[in-house]
Amino acid sequence: MSANEAGFNTRAVHAGQAFEPRTGAVVPPLHFSSTYAQDGIGGLRDGYEYGRGGNPTRDALQEQLAALEGGTHAFSFSSGLAAEDSLIRAVARPGDHIVLGNDAYGGTYRLINRVLGEWGIGNTPVDMSNLNAVAAAVAVNKTRIVWVETPSNPMMKITDIEALAKVAHDAGALLVVDNTFASPYLQTPLALGADVVVHSTTKYIGGHSDVVGGAIVVKDAELAEKIGFVQFAVGAVSGPMDAFLTTRGLKTLGVRMDRHSENAQAVAEWLLERPRLKPCCIRGCLPTRATSSRPSR
Ligand SMILES: Cc1ncc(COP(=O)(O)O)c(C=O)c1O
Repeated sequence: MSANEAGFNTRAVHAGQAFEPRTGAVVPPLHFSSTYAQDGIGGLRDGYEYGRGGNPTRDALQEQLAALEGGTHAFSFSSGLAAEDSLIRAVARPGDHIVLGNDAYGGTYRLINRVLGEWGIGNTPVDMSNLNAVAAAVAVNKTRIVWVETPSNPMMKITDIEALAKVAHDAGALLVVDNTFASPYLQTPLALGADVVVHSTTKYIGGHSDVVGGAIVVKDAELAEKIGFVQFAVGAVSGPMDAFLTTRGLKTLGVRMDRHSENAQAVAEWLLERPRLKPCCIRGCLPTRATSSRPSR
């Protein structure tokens, strides 16, 4: 049985996780080294030269992510936004245009509008669940990316990925799906025609609220080459400890998503039985947040 024929949970546990040959340790060791000894000038061992360019612990996670999303190449980053930034810089240029959901995660909109907008990349937010609105917003040969979260954060809107892929491709654009909320356990956008999957692995993939990270997964070698170049050239890679924690989280993604789904179903049914509940009773009376000196959102 090839790795890709194995079931989701088997791939989650084994993809990229070959045992360590010297001791037989079933969990691959963590590699914290920043640089690697060479067998003479240019004599790299397995291609490893410097930690920004490659690290075995990060590679193990990348292999695991690609196997779970049904991609050929995955790239692990220090945060979801770092992944998004590298992806956009790999495929878009000043003068290009992005169509994105009008309820996309606020940080994604801030990156596209306030950071990349300053570098000449335009954007149009639309209701992604309305395909006619998307078709009207894309500009043929100018829109480089159609960007969708489905389900979206926080409105939980759902978009038909296959239909959206057609709209994007007809305009010569790539379809990027932020799969953070469904996770590859519940949805694999590449199989539905998306060109790129992005993740904030900080959420369900990491799963334990102890690591911030991001990922990009693709199934096209040319696209992978461009993204790999930016990952290396810009350098927002995940560190070995973060990569290890994310790999460990991924191994239990399936069982956690089953439980999340059961819990969400139970809450939805509980609410359905109480149609008169006021929104403030559901939210509870939350204390007002103190102001802080963090950067403006
Ligand atoms: C859907 C979605 N995409 C991207 C991000 C950004 O990820 P990160 O916080 O890991 O940078 C988030 C963060 O909340 C998110 O919810």
